[in-house]
Formats: sequence, C-alpha cells, structure tokens
Amino acid sequence: MEIRNYQSGDEAAVVDLWRRCELLRNPLNDPHKDIAFCLAGGHGEILILEDEGEVVATAMLGQDGHRGWIYYVAVEPGRQGQDLGRRIVTAAQDRLQAAGVPKVHLMVRGSNTHVVGFYQRLGYMVEPITSMSRRLDGAALPVGHQMDDEKVVVTYLEMTERGSLPHVTPKTRNYVLMQAHDITVRFYRYLYDAVGQPWYWTDRKKLSDAALSAIIHDDAVDVYVLYVGGVPAGFYELDARKMPTVDLAFFGIMPEYIGLGLGPYLLSQALETMWQKEPERVLVNTCTLDHPKALPLYQRFGFRPYDRQEIPAPWQTADNVLDFA
Ligand SMILES: CC(C)(COP(=O)(O)OP(=O)(O)OC[C@H]1O[C@@H](n2cnc3c(N)ncnc32)[C@H](O)[C@@H]1OP(=O)(O)O)[C@@H](O)C(=O)NCCC(=O)NCCS
Repeated sequence: MEIRNYQSGDEAAVVDLWRRCELLRNPLNDPHKDIAFCLAGGHGEILILEDEGEVVATAMLGQDGHRGWIYYVAVEPGRQGQDLGRRIVTAAQDRLQAAGVPKVHLMVRGSNTHVVGFYQRLGYMVEPITSMSRRLDGAALPVGHQMDDEKVVVTYLEMTERGSLPHVTPKTRNYVLMQAHDITVRFYRYLYDAVGQPWYWTDRKKLSDAALSAIIHDDAVDVYVLYVGGVPAGFYELDARKMPTVDLAFFGIMPEYIGLGLGPYLLSQALETMWQKEPERVLVNTCTLDHPKALPLYQRFGFRPYDRQEIPAPWQTADNVLDFA
C-alpha cells in the first residue's frame, strides 16, 4: 500500500470512489472540474492511497496562504474502518505542515455529521464558526420549483365559506387520524422534521422548546396526527388564535406515505375540523419550496389565492438551520 500523488489516469477511479462515497450529491460540484482546478492552481494536491493497483482512499488538499484545507476525504466503502481514513488524512496534514501551513480546516456537510467523530478521533475540533458562501460562477441549483439563488414565493390562500368537499378515499385502508392532546415537544419536533425536511421547513426549528410549547399547547392550537398501520404518516396543525380566522399552519404527509392519496384525505379532515370551529375565514399558505401538488390541491378544495409575497430562502438568511452544501 502506498500514498502517492494523483495521476491523470486515476480520474475515472477517483470520481467513481467519490460518487460511491456520496461526496457528489451537489450537482453543481463537477468532480472533473474540481480535480482540474485543484491541480492547475499550484496550491492544491490530490493524494491517493493505492493498494494492489486500486485507488482505496483519496484526499484533496490545498492552502490559501492563510490556512490549509482538506476536501474529498473518501475511503473505499468495503475498506472503511481499517485505518485507511486516518492514513490519508494524516498524509494530507503532513504535506500541509511541510509547506509551513499552521492550521488545517475542513467542512463536514450537515447531513454527514456522523463523520465528525472520525475527525475528532484524529484530533480535530468542532469550531464555533458559521460557514458562509456565495457562488461567483452564476450557477444555481433547482430547489423545489425555483432556483436556489431566487427568493421563495409564498402564495396565501383563503376560503370564506364552507364548500362541498371532494370525496376522498386513500389507497390504503389501515389508517387512523387522532388529535394529539398535550403533544410532547419532542414528538412534535419529530413530526415537523419528518414531514417538512424535504420542503425546507425551518420556522419551528428556530424556536426554543419553551416557545414551541407555548404555541402547540395553546388551547386554540390543535395538532392531528395521521397514522398508517400504527406508524405516524403525516400531521396537520390548526391555529385558531386569531378567531374568527383559522389558519392551517402546517399540513403534510411524510415522504414514505406520499402517493397513497393520504394528502387529499388529510386535507378534507383538516377542513372539517377547521370549519367545526365556525370561523369566518380559513387560511393556508404554500411556497415554491413545497410539494408542487400542494397549491393545486388547496385550490381543488376551494382555497383561493389572495396574496403573494417574496421572502428569502432559508439558506439565504443568517439563522440557517439547513444542510445545503
Ligand atoms: C469518513 C471516512 C473517511 C473514515 O475512514 P475510515 O477508513 O472508515 O476510518 P478509520 O478506520 O481510519 O478510522 C480512524 C478512527 O476513527 C474512528 N471512526 C471512523 N469513523 C468514525 C465515525 N463515523 N464516528 C466516530 N469514529 C469514527 C475509527 O473507529 C478509528 O478510531 P480508533 O482510533 O479508535 O481506531 C470514511 O468512512 C468515508 O470515506 N466515508 C464516506 C465519505 C465521507 O463521508 N468523507 C468525509 C467527508 S467530510
């Protein structure tokens, strides 16, 4: 086994390893361009750990004149846990140290936090740093039904009289809807994250337990949970704190249960419970990060848009609680 510098013939094997190690999930990070750019600048290197002609681990390293950086640390999935990660990272550190670099940094994506323990084992510390970025190449990533550098468009919808609801029968039979009385903050956070994670829901994540508890335990706020086969599959939250208006504050099905017709069923139940409160106006809003069927679904059930507003995307604000590499 030897550690050596990257050679042009390694490209296919290296990119394949990065892909299998799930390091290429951001489609804007073109690994071929990254390799070429790293090697062209004169400040970067790619180290290869080779075993019997196979690339088994990689690390990209570089320095910007102030700090050293390590990227693309990857170990062949079948060879992980055999000290190869330590060897390649140590080799990268040694190179930086030899070049006089006093400190090395690296970034771990929020969705990959389980590797933090690996780096800690190697003596790295979690720094109290907020990592910020801005693209200089004008490239943008489609997110929801917009691009990541665009503002989110929120559509506000209302219903001022109870219409007749479409008849809805889910494709699954084994479901039950229950109101969650005195829901625990922990269970609420689980529901919110399980439903909202694909749609970048963040509002409630920013709240402390006490602030969240004050809302969800308010007598005018009701949370209903949909179970399929005894397992939570979705929820909705009614907010009647501003009667005679009732707001469908949160509504959604968990990704595993989308496609079973549970969305229309849950919305019909939500409307039923909202109108039981005898409001004059029922509200909901949806945005360009939500499921594309949300807006047509609300309209099919009788909601009418009354306002549209542009707001920053969660990753465009300082209190970002999302992983958006
Ligand atoms: C992260 C990765 C490079 C680690 O490489 P590895 O070869 O599996 O790790 P090693 O065997 O060298 O482990 C070194 C030490 O870290 C520990 N360790 C490894 N992974 C760990 C983890 N996820 N959490 C806590 N400790 C971990 C090992 O137990 C070992 O500890 P020891 O000192 O007690 O022996 C590898 O799992 C990988 O390629 N993952 C996919 C790509 C990736 O996420 N890269 C990081 C991008 S930031």
